[in-house]
Amino acid sequence: MRERDDILTRSGRFALVDAGGPGEHAAFARDVRAGLLAHPKRLPCWYFYDSEGSRLFEAICELPEYYLTRAEQAILEERSGELASLFRGPITLVELGSGSARKTRVLIEALLRRHGTARYMPVDICRPALLDSARALLTDYPALEIRAVAGEYSDGLRHVAEEADRPRLILWLGSSIGNLDRPEAAEFLRRVREAVSAHDRLLLGIDLRKDRAVLEAAYDDAQGITARFNRNLLVRINRELGGRFDPGRFLHRAVYNAEVGRIEMYLVSEGSQRVRIEALDLAIAFAPGEAIHTENSYKYSPAEIDALASEAGLRLEQRWVDAAGRFSVNLCAPASR
Ligand code: AVI
Repeated sequence: MRERDDILTRSGRFALVDAGGPGEHAAFARDVRAGLLAHPKRLPCWYFYDSEGSRLFEAICELPEYYLTRAEQAILEERSGELASLFRGPITLVELGSGSARKTRVLIEALLRRHGTARYMPVDICRPALLDSARALLTDYPALEIRAVAGEYSDGLRHVAEEADRPRLILWLGSSIGNLDRPEAAEFLRRVREAVSAHDRLLLGIDLRKDRAVLEAAYDDAQGITARFNRNLLVRINRELGGRFDPGRFLHRAVYNAEVGRIEMYLVSEGSQRVRIEALDLAIAFAPGEAIHTENSYKYSPAEIDALASEAGLRLEQRWVDAAGRFSVNLCAPASR
């Protein structure tokens, strides 16, 4: 452990801002209480990403059914040189929800080839995943500097302002925008717009609307990895809040709501049960078949992306779509005010 930490501390190329901290546990307790007492029951999807959840999400990205990561990766591989050449000198690459940063490598390499150095600001809610990816990147790229932010997107945005000495390319990849409701997505993009200047750019990976069968398979894979990812929320409640859930008594369900254009994920109670959560001094009753709504993943049409960008004060400069027409990467600039 000490030897691994040395890579971060000894390199002189790493800084960490811990924006999470002591309030995190209280927020989890508050949100679980409110969500499980609500009708219908729900839990916020950002709590998926403890260490095990982040690990399971990485496994999802490798699944044959989960085309999103591969489609986006193919576009980034093809366009990374072009993206690096948009900037005349070294830039700060900000990534909202960086995870393992595996897809980002191709862009980092292109920036290093073009400008010799680069600064990377990964923002992620999962501190261990952030530190692991920083270790790997610092080892592999000696000319890379990292300023990591352990926290939520909004924490990351606050720190984007500190990088005003160079142009910034802000990455929001993997269709993470899809986990926000449409008005929330527009509002957050408006805040990104407020945080950047005319020479900065935003790169948005957004999954497209498509056939139900393709979408439902992507969120309910044959190996059951997405089911484990979903149930891990209950495992986390058990560990952190003294919950007494039997995750095996909840079924994973993923359905495409075509009208609204979103995948909805649920945990469905098998039979009636009563589950105590010690730290909340609460017992939650479940009727047979009663569901906890755990995630929405919105899909966009190209026209919806255009509307979203203009609503947020952004100008779409380029849209690239993968060969199968499933996924889009959108390059945006701030629209002149
Ligand atoms: C992180 N996010 C964009 C993923 C998605 O596709 O909505 C999370 C996920 N949920 C189930 N599979 C993947």
